[in-house]
Amino acid sequence: MTDKPPVLVIGPLPQRDLDAMARRFTVLPYFAATDKAAYLAEHGASVRAVSTRGETGINAEQLAALPNLGIVACYAVGTDMVDLAACRARNIPVTNTAGVLTDEVADMALALLLAAFRQIPAADAWVRSGTWAAQGAMPLQRRMYGKRLGIVGLGEIGRAVARRAEGFAMPIAYSGRSKQAVPYAYYPNPLAMAPHVDALVVCAAGGPATRNLVSAAVIAALPKGAVLVNVARGTVVEEAAVIEALRSGHLGAAGLDVFLNEPAIDPVFATFPNVVLQPHAASATYETRGAMGDLMLANMEAWLDGRPLLTPVA
Ligand code: 8YV
Repeated sequence: MTDKPPVLVIGPLPQRDLDAMARRFTVLPYFAATDKAAYLAEHGASVRAVSTRGETGINAEQLAALPNLGIVACYAVGTDMVDLAACRARNIPVTNTAGVLTDEVADMALALLLAAFRQIPAADAWVRSGTWAAQGAMPLQRRMYGKRLGIVGLGEIGRAVARRAEGFAMPIAYSGRSKQAVPYAYYPNPLAMAPHVDALVVCAAGGPATRNLVSAAVIAALPKGAVLVNVARGTVVEEAAVIEALRSGHLGAAGLDVFLNEPAIDPVFATFPNVVLQPHAASATYETRGAMGDLMLANMEAWLDGRPLLTPVA
């Protein structure tokens, strides 16, 4: 017997975080179980805490198998894959890692913007493949600085993207539920904003409220040749419309960190030379993932000790 409460670890974590967790909890590596249903049936009743990732969340069926659950701690800021209503109904607090990944994700948004405008991966391939030596200079690319930027969702991450874009002399617009005290042009929705920007960066939280927020109509309303960057969730963008607009050339380039059906994304994306792809890695640095692991565990320990949670999700 142990007095360490069992924690069901739904999404894989770095060993450093599993080791840290094991100091106060009994780690149940659900992520490694081959027969998940059998694992839940065997351990579900004992589980007191859940640790999960943004991509894995926890659904109603899994929650129902955990009658003694006291907290869901996410290694992510986005909790769109967590059945929040089911947690609320059982008074199970949910925590995220808000704050510690903001700047990292914003860095990735700017990296994708620059890579898309200047076609950095295609240029890299031009050199590596010997095309430069064989055929000469690559075609000219487009300037990024000074271009009009539209940010869909001006939360913490959207604001961090805006701050960086100011350094590139980009006039900034944003869409969101409400106007904020910021010196950027406000539009109530992406459709109204689209005709006025050269690049769109999607930063809105995922979930049912934002599904297909960047719809086919929004994409069609962008000027021809516009650049699309998504560091939010695949669900926020109508993916079929993005693919169609890349095919037709209406979108000039894209930088995508998130997709529907990760990690088995639509293989067509890999066929577009003007699309820069990332494996949902905007927060994936040693520094930020370390801070995310620390904050997730700090929330779990606060719950265990009866202290206020650090970053509860409303
Ligand atoms: C992570 C994320 O890649 O924070 C989020 O919402 O999507 C990312 O930071 C992911 O959640 C880690 O599992």
